Amino acid sequence: MADWSLEKMVKKEYRNVEKTLIIPDIHCPYEDKGAVHAVVAFSKEYKPDKIKILGDIVDFYALSKFDKEPDRITGLQKEIDVAQYYLDLIRKSNPKADITLFEGNHEIRLMKYLRKNPEISSLRSIRSADRLLEVSKFNIKYRTNEIHHGILVKHGNVVRKHSAYTAKGEFDNEGTSGISGHTHRLSAHYITNRNGQHAWYEMGHLCDENQAEYMEGKVPNWQKGFGLVEYDKDRKIWRVEQIPIIGDSFIYGSKTYKWRSNQKFEDRDSL
Ligand SMILES: [Fe+2]
Ligand SMILES: [Fe+2]
Repeated sequence: MADWSLEKMVKKEYRNVEKTLIIPDIHCPYEDKGAVHAVVAFSKEYKPDKIKILGDIVDFYALSKFDKEPDRITGLQKEIDVAQYYLDLIRKSNPKADITLFEGNHEIRLMKYLRKNPEISSLRSIRSADRLLEVSKFNIKYRTNEIHHGILVKHGNVVRKHSAYTAKGEFDNEGTSGISGHTHRLSAHYITNRNGQHAWYEMGHLCDENQAEYMEGKVPNWQKGFGLVEYDKDRKIWRVEQIPIIGDSFIYGSKTYKWRSNQKFEDRDSL
């Protein structure tokens, strides 16, 4: 009988895998506090080399062109304070990680508002969302998009009716593998052509559905969750994992992570 074993044929290597945590739409101050804190707690254990915050970190509801419900207007400063609270929490929990915040359409709301009010738009500190959020204070980069090992990472601007339709739409437009937020849905769309195997992923959201949009009693067709990208630097292959959050828990690596839905977060709640 030949001298072989499965272990010799299929080897495991751990050394050269780069780990990236993907944090989708938070929409401060309408975030799901438990879910965002749970993802940050998870990051302390997962220890990502990189973190990509996919945009719409701030709702900027105060600047929305849509009709405002009076009790939803909490003020621009509070929205910024809450976003900075999470940027600080993510940075302190991951002191060595390379962190990038991507520009979402809710951050663009700021620029649109300022363009309509040119008398204040010349102020340097409010000329862009990254300056207003002071992202550099947290050693966080701000980008509109980025190629991450051949995967285009961006907030996204396509919205189709169903999960994965948008992922297909983004791939059709961009012609490359990618990751986006924006739709608040989870999905993957795979494509194989003469250039190889590709995929586009919609990464869900981390906001409180009951507060984030005025749904007129409808159930939003959204999925809460977050993602991971693992990249083998030697073999130059990657794998994207999507982790759905169901209520107040999620499963990763055969373990369930759970929190109380009415959990208090003193530092956040005091803002
Ligand atoms: Fe968006
Ligand atoms: Fe969003």
